[in-house]
Amino acid sequence: MEKMTQVPNTEIIKPKILYYGTPVILLNSLNEDGSVNISPLSSSWALGDYIILGIGLGGKAIENLERHPECVINVPSPSLWENVEKLAPYTGKNPVPEYKKKNGFTFEKEKYAISKLTPAESKTVKPTRIMECPIQIEAIVKHIRMPDYSTDFAIVEVQVIHVHAHKDILTGENYIDPNKWSPLIYNFRHYFGLGNQLGKTFRAE
Ligand SMILES: Cc1cc2nc3c(=O)[nH]c(=O)nc-3n(C[C@H](O)[C@H](O)[C@H](O)COP(=O)(O)O)c2cc1C
Repeated sequence: MEKMTQVPNTEIIKPKILYYGTPVILLNSLNEDGSVNISPLSSSWALGDYIILGIGLGGKAIENLERHPECVINVPSPSLWENVEKLAPYTGKNPVPEYKKKNGFTFEKEKYAISKLTPAESKTVKPTRIMECPIQIEAIVKHIRMPDYSTDFAIVEVQVIHVHAHKDILTGENYIDPNKWSPLIYNFRHYFGLGNQLGKTFRAE
């Protein structure tokens, strides 16, 4: 058995938020009138052909996914951080829930106009893709889980249907070149790009 060591340089803290640096995505979902809502999210991860999303229950995104189980997960590059931030104070939910109002959110339906981003038609799903995002993933909702330990968010499992990628981040066939692509990272409410490459895993191409 390993010998335990005392760790002299740590403290137990109660952070208000725990966003320790995950990629930003822009989740496109379908409004009731057929227009598209764009929601910035950072709680997502991929598992094979599935993506797991953590979505707040007071927003428009979850309402839309429950009504129409299709979405596009757009992955912006660091150069798009200001477009993302333009969306940040808005919700597509009308009326705006009280707790969101208290946090400074106002209603805005025209998310494309506000963010100065451009819609592109999707191949299979109804919500549009965001042209400027180098990776755009069409997906279908497979399961919405309302955890019994929290009333704040849903865990949404989606299945990837098509992955669209800008040609300039590709290498060979079906590969995204990590030297050409890098995500926009949400690091404790601050936007970052990636630093330099440190190494690669044994299975890297
Ligand atoms: C960079 C960034 C990351 C965010 N990550 C999440 C997230 O992972 N899950 C979530 O529910 N809200 C997240 N939010 C907050 C939502 O964007 C916010 O609730 C917004 O009102 C959602 O829009 P909607 O109500 O029109 O869906 C994030 C906001 C920003 C700016």
